[in-house]
Amino acid sequence: MDQNPPSSNLKNSGTSQLRFENTSVLEAQSLCFGFPNLKPVFNNVSLKTHKDEFIAIIGPSGIGKSILLRILAQLIPPTSGKVLLNGIPVVHPSAKIGLVHQSIATFPWMTALDNVKLVLLGGKMSDEAATQTAERMLEMVGLKSVEDEYPKEMSGGMRQRVAIARALSASPEVILLDEPFVHLDELTANRLRKEIYDLVFQTETSLKSAVLVSHNLHEVVQLADCVYIMNGSPATIVNEVNIDLPRPRNERQPGFLDYVDRLYEGLNLVPPKG
Ligand SMILES: Nc1ncnc2c1ncn2[C@@H]1O[C@H](COP(=O)(O)OP(=O)(O)OP(=O)(O)O)[C@@H](O)[C@H]1O
Ligand SMILES: [Mg+2]
Repeated sequence: MDQNPPSSNLKNSGTSQLRFENTSVLEAQSLCFGFPNLKPVFNNVSLKTHKDEFIAIIGPSGIGKSILLRILAQLIPPTSGKVLLNGIPVVHPSAKIGLVHQSIATFPWMTALDNVKLVLLGGKMSDEAATQTAERMLEMVGLKSVEDEYPKEMSGGMRQRVAIARALSASPEVILLDEPFVHLDELTANRLRKEIYDLVFQTETSLKSAVLVSHNLHEVVQLADCVYIMNGSPATIVNEVNIDLPRPRNERQPGFLDYVDRLYEGLNLVPPKG
């Protein structure tokens, strides 16, 4: 596995050390998955997140990334292999692992506020406390002013933000994000990337780590400490790249675009010119 930064002038953010010394938060051990009577989708997928760590999974369309996230959330069982949270096997969906689906999943008959409150009322929270938490989350994703609107009155990007607010309001330890910013304009996407990133690193929130699936390699280099590349048929993890760049990151900093090129190469793609 390739652990070295592409350029010697990069400051080390300490990521590699974190990965080797800390115990894992979420861990996939040798996951295999296939639909009955069909060729396996992926084999032997192992990955780890550590505390205060953002990882990303990239790979061509149809390789099995969304299925992998659903297995990590235990919404579907793997054919074989294990998922562990803080070292303990997870076998049922858990509020500690939140998933923001690739296809926007909001309930059309509920207002934005009720969509977010839904996950809170399932627990022991009072209606008043749930309203307060849901309003805080909607404010964070920039939707406080439309809390009484219904999804059909909203754009795709707004619905996506409702889904993100709902996932975060359950106070998960790990959030799994399946192309979460793809329906958003660049300005909103940038603000939300930063918010989610900050939440992972704030000590007072429950969120310890995040797993991002994205086709946007600039977004991946901006956010991820470690990138797992899936490829092949059946797919496996073909490479693991640690992004040792100081934060906050932007495209103009030395080394940033080298990492983007390296991820393109990892996918066997030619980086676009310009
Ligand atoms: N219910 C199903 N029955 C059979 N095959 C399926 C089913 N659902 C998904 N697949 C196949 O499983 C493979 C992996 O799907 P998945 O949605 O995980 O891909 P992905 O990597 O997330 O793709 P994308 O980047 O386009 O979102 C695909 O080839 C898909 O056609
Ligand atoms: Mg997908």
